Amino acid sequence: MKGNIIIKNANELVTCSGFKAKQGKEMSDLKIINDGAVVIENGIIKAVGKTKEILKQYNEKDYKVIDAANKAVLPGFVDSHTHFVFGGYRAEEFSWRLRGDSYMEIMKRGGGIVSTVKATREASFEELFKSGLKRLDSMLFFGVTTVEGKSGYGLDCETELKQLEVMDKLDNTHPIDIAKTFLGPHAVPKDYKGREDEFIDFMIDEVLPVVAERKLAEFCDIFCEKNVFSVEQSRRYLKKAKEYGFKLKIHADEIVQLGGAELSAELGAVSADHLLQASDEGIRQMAEKGVVATLLPGTAFSLKEPYARARYMIDQNLAVALATDMNPGSCHTESIPLIFALATLYMNMTIEEAITALTINGAAAIDRADSIGSIDVGKKGDIIILEFPSYKYIPYHIGVSTVEKVIKDGVLVFN
Ligand code: NIG
Ligand code: FE
Repeated sequence: MKGNIIIKNANELVTCSGFKAKQGKEMSDLKIINDGAVVIENGIIKAVGKTKEILKQYNEKDYKVIDAANKAVLPGFVDSHTHFVFGGYRAEEFSWRLRGDSYMEIMKRGGGIVSTVKATREASFEELFKSGLKRLDSMLFFGVTTVEGKSGYGLDCETELKQLEVMDKLDNTHPIDIAKTFLGPHAVPKDYKGREDEFIDFMIDEVLPVVAERKLAEFCDIFCEKNVFSVEQSRRYLKKAKEYGFKLKIHADEIVQLGGAELSAELGAVSADHLLQASDEGIRQMAEKGVVATLLPGTAFSLKEPYARARYMIDQNLAVALATDMNPGSCHTESIPLIFALATLYMNMTIEEAITALTINGAAAIDRADSIGSIDVGKKGDIIILEFPSYKYIPYHIGVSTVEKVIKDGVLVFN
């Protein structure tokens, strides 16, 4: 459904105006209109400006009208990196991490991602659909209007396709839009231990062509990490994916500095994600090639790892996006307020930079900066209204959602 709405009298209309990723200093300018209004027709933004001017041109009688006096109005948040479709949970593993076991140790002894793989293989389509729907509801409550979702808990053809098909159905059912990513090489399944190259061959020969033919994903991703997949294996897989027409993402330099950031620049990836250990040279190359750095502070927090060097990256003119990484292992949260808190309090990002990172740069991280991520004429009418007069309340109300209303495609979907 697409709606017709006028939002008027917004104390701060935070437009984040722009149609491509904002790099470095550009991230600080939110392009705010005070006493602003937005007109949405058939789900698309038709006009943006001062309330007085807008109401001269558009008749309120023809629209549903929302009065946003004393409120801040922003573009819907774009959560550009998640693994939200999965079976089972790993609460036990979380408690082991609290007692001192590391994420990679747990993975090495057969826990971690592969334990979610077992549960996801066993889960029915309906079960995955139902839990996915619940998680999308939770995201909507936090003001997310578009989410990226990855497969990667199948590691076999059947389950990888099942995850992508579940996301497809969720996309058609729930107001939140879903950008789908095929993450077949997410971990080494037990039966391929020591034969990682053969597993990459299997993904390239048996799974990639099916995902491509059935158009089940827009992006391909890989977990490039010590004791998972090497830079060489990642390069081989991603190059093939590119040949099939997929856009590229990489889980890069998360625990160990392997050169994933450099690889993302070499291959022209849309984004490189995590980057806790990214080298200065990798960051420089990413900035030069316009690769978006998607930072996931919830994961660093949850794994007690050092945060990615957001301040340095922005100062080096990178485009930084922020996302939750929502998944059952390294970061089990849909919470956008948590991400704001960590980015501003622990990664030295300004509030303005964090907002850019969760709107227009999040959109750029999924190659949708031309259609979402800002309040601009011609873009989707995906908008949130805060219960407070300024965007500055977002991180200030620590860990609590300040989102009062969510409008998706011009329809009020959360109130
Ligand atoms: O982005 N690092 C690899 N993949 C995910 C974690 C997935 C999991 O633990 O289930 C991540 O952190
Ligand atoms: Fe991830």
